[in-house]
Amino acid sequence: MNSDKELKLEKLRDEMRLITGEIIKLVQKRMLIASQIGNIKNNLMMHIEDISVEQEIGKYVYDLGVQIGLNRQFVGRLLNLLFLESIKIQSSKNSRKDEKLDHMTIFLKAKQLESKGRKIIHLEVGEPDYMPPPNVKNELNKTFEKKRIHYTETKGIPLLRKSIAEKKSVKEDRVIITPGARFAIFSAMASILSMGDELIIFEPAWPAYRDCANFIGTKVKAVKTKVEQKWDPDISQLEELTTANTKMIVLNYPNNPTGKIVHDKKIEDIINLARKKNIFVLSDEVYSLYSYIPYKSILNFEYDKSVMISSFSKSHAMTGFRVGYAISSKNIIDKISKIQSIAITSVAEPMQFAALSALRSNVSKNVTLMKRRLDFINKKLKNLPCQFNNIDVTKTIYNLLNEGVAVAPGIGFGNEYFNYIRISACQPIKLLNDGLEILKKVTKR
Ligand SMILES: Cc1ncc(COP(=O)(O)O)c(C=O)c1O
Repeated sequence: MNSDKELKLEKLRDEMRLITGEIIKLVQKRMLIASQIGNIKNNLMMHIEDISVEQEIGKYVYDLGVQIGLNRQFVGRLLNLLFLESIKIQSSKNSRKDEKLDHMTIFLKAKQLESKGRKIIHLEVGEPDYMPPPNVKNELNKTFEKKRIHYTETKGIPLLRKSIAEKKSVKEDRVIITPGARFAIFSAMASILSMGDELIIFEPAWPAYRDCANFIGTKVKAVKTKVEQKWDPDISQLEELTTANTKMIVLNYPNNPTGKIVHDKKIEDIINLARKKNIFVLSDEVYSLYSYIPYKSILNFEYDKSVMISSFSKSHAMTGFRVGYAISSKNIIDKISKIQSIAITSVAEPMQFAALSALRSNVSKNVTLMKRRLDFINKKLKNLPCQFNNIDVTKTIYNLLNEGVAVAPGIGFGNEYFNYIRISACQPIKLLNDGLEILKKVTKR
């Protein structure tokens, strides 16, 4: 009797081994096709990712899966893994990959020119040019005297967590201090997302969302917004992109690079959709202080699957201090803390005390200064031919660099935005004026 069952088990295992082998052979066949497609796309200078083709394959495979009784979510996860691998293979065929153009490419080229004695006006990087509040310096000076030289609690020093919690009207156990917003975003994504899941962003977008998700093996889908629609996201487009595998939607308002703030009503619509479909909403609010119209944090919408991210980098000119924070449910904060404990133990103690003193400082002067600069740029750009037609933007960006101005290429914020440049307001008005005069000269040629 037993040996009958053992015999059957052995037979089934044989069958399983053969089928798994067949699957692997088919995957290999798929990869070879991806490689050929990559070669053709490279020759035709086409973008690698094509969401409409993915949707078409997706529909065919989903329908087939459902017909033969497979779970939709499982089919989706497998499909996403195949799509991601295919994109990787096709990208490796891209002979133009060395020419990846983003603000860091331009920044590094500008630095090279500066090392040869050239003067460059930096309008490409978004790093405040003013100093942190004076009491931050005083607090930092107390580091040795107060022996703030130790590891701290992984979630951050209680005083800082408590102060942030009070400011944001949440319970302290919902707050974690992180080394900058970037790590808060990465660890929140790593806590919530798995390989084969899907994440939705609104483009143009800060590239780190895509980078973090790709690193985890999560498929990124983008709702494209357009200047003609005042960068307003289309909810029906968002709805269309959500599937059973969508686990997170990322919001970033005020937005980098557009400065856009989406109306509360629309945010409410997005949250309602997320609520209905059980999707997390991560809201990166690092620029919230620089909102010149009423602004509502995600925390005001009381959605239990939200993750609010902020930091002291932009609001208090403390990019190098690397202090940020996340506010979410206790459950998610515990998960982020686990990642943080494995990766970094804790944020540096002196920096947490410096952030505490920053939190108690008034930075309204910086906010006014930035507004004045933005108004200046706006007024100046109105006198320029802003809607340039038929110009090669990449060439213009390099011409500008040769003339001494570095700007950020739009393509860094999404493939569709290759025709745009981003100008940062992190320079004194005199330099902004000089930079924009050069822009005028170069684009009028
Ligand atoms: C939208 C956005 N979020 C987060 C960050 C990074 O912030 P942090 O310095 O706190 O990591 C940046 C930096 O440019 C950004 O543009």
